[in-house]
Amino acid sequence: MSRVKLNAAKSVLEKIPKTGPIGLGSGSTIAIFAKELGKRILNGENDICVVPSSYQAYQLAIQYQIPLTNLDINPELVMTIDGADEVDRNLNLTKGGGGALFQEKVVASASEKLIIIVDESKLVDRLASKFMIPIEVLPFSIGVVKKKIRNIGIEPIVRQAEKKMGPVVTDNGNFIIDLKFPKPIDNPAKVAVDLKMIPGVIETGLFVGMTDEVHVGKEDGVYILKK
Ligand code: A5P
Repeated sequence: MSRVKLNAAKSVLEKIPKTGPIGLGSGSTIAIFAKELGKRILNGENDICVVPSSYQAYQLAIQYQIPLTNLDINPELVMTIDGADEVDRNLNLTKGGGGALFQEKVVASASEKLIIIVDESKLVDRLASKFMIPIEVLPFSIGVVKKKIRNIGIEPIVRQAEKKMGPVVTDNGNFIIDLKFPKPIDNPAKVAVDLKMIPGVIETGLFVGMTDEVHVGKEDGVYILKK
């Protein structure tokens, strides 16, 4: 699996600019990308800086000596490179498997291009096929949000931490609810808006109409899906 991710990461390295600020996504595929990017910067092949989309991305940048910037200094980014949990046939995404969806979406929205790196297992016909859709929720509102979600026929599951008792607390101090839809969704744009209209829902893991390219890694290479 790591060779598959490496193939996707190397493919996207060919696309990054020589200079300029870019967004650094989160996840295990991005960890592989960051390592390769760090090597290029040390070799002098690239002279870029990154806005990290999570504490994980921030730590990766430190580990691989990738210069850091932020959205106050660079509110416009040349591109963002990120992973995804599901990619549908229109290149809409589900993200947030690592709990970083909110900052990831802000960073992506500041970018001229969003380039996604995945393996083939992430490709689906419709979102919510294999992966639940996460939403980031203000802790104060968790009870009422769960009730409203249940009322529209979706099962809300508050994500639990693994090495801490109780719920996952995001980089922003909020909770994550994973939404189990009764079937894959036909209209992710509408679902995203409907969910975001619920007071207390801060952001959803649905990235609709944002992706420019998806680099799909395989054991023996890579192929690129474009908008
Ligand atoms: C982080 O919250 C996510 O959006 C990740 O980008 C996504 O889960 C993909 O991660 P992997 O590359 O580890 O599959």
